[in-house]
Amino acid sequence: MAFKIGLLGLGTVGAGTAEILLSPDGRHPLLQELEICRVGVRDISRTRSLQLPENVLTTDLEAIATDPEVDIVVELIGGLEPARSLILQAIANGKHVVTANKAVISRYGQEIFDAANAKGVYVMFEAAVGGGIPVIQTLKQSLGANRIQTVIGIINGTTNYILTRMQTEGADFAAVLADAQQLGYAEADPSADVDGLDAADKIAILASLAFGGRIKLEDIHCEGIRQVSAADIDYADKLGFVIKLLAIAQDIESTPDEEMLSIRVHPSFVPKTHPLASVNGVYNAILVEGEPIGQLMLYGRGAGAGPTASAVVSDIMNIAAILKTETVPIPHPLLSCNHQHYSKIAPMQELVTRFYARFLTRDTPGVIGKLGTAFGNHKVSLESIVQTGIHGNLAEIVVVTHDVKEGNFQKAIDEIRAMESIDSIATILRVL
Ligand code: HSE
Repeated sequence: MAFKIGLLGLGTVGAGTAEILLSPDGRHPLLQELEICRVGVRDISRTRSLQLPENVLTTDLEAIATDPEVDIVVELIGGLEPARSLILQAIANGKHVVTANKAVISRYGQEIFDAANAKGVYVMFEAAVGGGIPVIQTLKQSLGANRIQTVIGIINGTTNYILTRMQTEGADFAAVLADAQQLGYAEADPSADVDGLDAADKIAILASLAFGGRIKLEDIHCEGIRQVSAADIDYADKLGFVIKLLAIAQDIESTPDEEMLSIRVHPSFVPKTHPLASVNGVYNAILVEGEPIGQLMLYGRGAGAGPTASAVVSDIMNIAAILKTETVPIPHPLLSCNHQHYSKIAPMQELVTRFYARFLTRDTPGVIGKLGTAFGNHKVSLESIVQTGIHGNLAEIVVVTHDVKEGNFQKAIDEIRAMESIDSIATILRVL
């Protein structure tokens, strides 16, 4: 018996998925039982190198989502609409769904999974986070015995590529971004990547799997990498750090009665000795800490046709395996969504972390003393304070704090900003 696949989209990932499905030799035998039955595209007349079965192409995507022949709808068109509506239509028509769409899953998860549970179908999304890295299945299944404490990811390849090049070339953000756009490593509109929104969608998904509740995207604090300069990267290097865009989900002192998470995306100083510090270029990595497993890190390609298609096809295979072994599929306790509540996310003021801050000040006597006093006034203890350079008539002072409450740090910063001797606060970054 063959399982019939309806593919929505034949772009980079769609074509990569079709390529695997069309060449099953040497892969798992279950692949021999998967058949591409229909493929939805925008333009049928485009020349394609794929040897697709005859007459499978159509521009009518809804016809695929509702086709009684199709067992599994694979949504690879991306974006919010019509992807969301097509997924819901497929579910309403009793089809299992595989998607790589992090934006739809993170924003419309409740609507989609409630519909899927009511209809008794699966919605699988391994490719939505970390491309080819099997992090979804790892959190859903392999780490089920653990109490997860932290998930920290470098889960946006574009920003990691830009930061890595800034680090190796000493170049500024704008120059590297422009070059990355020319080379096709960054989108013409780079906002989703460089402003951290793509990483926020992804950490929302990872946090909901790690901590067992739904996550509201608007609860996630999100900062991108536009503020990171070559000077910051240079200071980081001298102080023993690299700068990475991290997506962090942490259990901060949850009790059996009250869960409290911190979920955030921001550039961070990462100690050079930390396992995430050596994740460079377009690579992604996810570090999970749990009890009893301790630290576990998954590393690999976070995007691209082959890696992402590898994740898509593994989801298709999981569904096919269930369809093969159960006459009436019942919600698989590890593969279906059983979240009932929204997780409580702590405000950023409650976060305890270290900070790096770079100030441009007038070069007058007592400035360092005034900075130290302002920090002391708000219980912010400093690990180091250095003045290294003079820019025109301004002095550059760099501060690294001990662990402090973010709310206290911000109050100190407000006091410092109002000081006459402070010209500007060039950068503030958190330290891992
Ligand atoms: N735009 C994403 C990134 C790839 O740069 O990692 C797709 O998730």
